[in-house]
Amino acid sequence: MNTLILMGSPRLHGNTAELCKPLMEELRAQGVQVRYVTLADRDIRPCRACYRCQDVEGAYGCVQQDGMANVVEDILWADLIVLATPIYSWYCTPQMKAVLDRHYGLNKYYGKAKGSLWAGKHVAILATHGYEGEYAYGPFETGVQRLCEHSKLVYDGLYSVVDEDNLASFRTPEAIEGARAFARRLVEAVQVDRGGL
Ligand SMILES: Cc1cc2nc3c(=O)[nH]c(=O)nc-3n(C[C@H](O)[C@H](O)[C@H](O)COP(=O)(O)O)c2cc1C
Repeated sequence: MNTLILMGSPRLHGNTAELCKPLMEELRAQGVQVRYVTLADRDIRPCRACYRCQDVEGAYGCVQQDGMANVVEDILWADLIVLATPIYSWYCTPQMKAVLDRHYGLNKYYGKAKGSLWAGKHVAILATHGYEGEYAYGPFETGVQRLCEHSKLVYDGLYSVVDEDNLASFRTPEAIEGARAFARRLVEAVQVDRGGL
């Protein structure tokens, strides 16, 4: 089983990166192959809405030659994609939003090409935020759930921790065990779906 962690914070060693550590450790302990990709240090431009990807059959087909090409390779490799992001203005960071918008070439819904390059993949969210719970992450989780529905992906849920004291909040036994338990839940969800990978 292959898992791609897309880490969307501009703080490469901040809260969200810290919460990724126990998640990745547990995934690896479960025998999962993990790729950890930070977005803020890559050149990933916004979607230009040219729709050229919609006429390219069987390939991503984006006209922009930038860092998204490698992210797409990683997405195609993965069984499970974890969107790890701080909540910014009730949604994800702009770095992650650019990647989410650039999913267009993976769904051939609006042009001459047909089908999906990523249907059936699993998606989950790992979030950090200042406000409590659903009030903080609700709009982003709803957006991702709808993106999954639209793209025929399997949404496996969210784990999040509140930023009360910067990095210290993400180093508590509760935060660490919560991230590990979430990892185990994700592995099980993919394995049940795939009949044991
Ligand atoms: C520009 C900006 C916008 C933010 N917007 C929200 C928000 O809408 N809701 C929230 O709960 N926290 C918000 N926060 C707090 C961050 O989500 C929180 O501090 C997070 O843990 C930062 O993670 P990082 O260290 O990985 O960047 C915001 C922080 C910044 C810098």
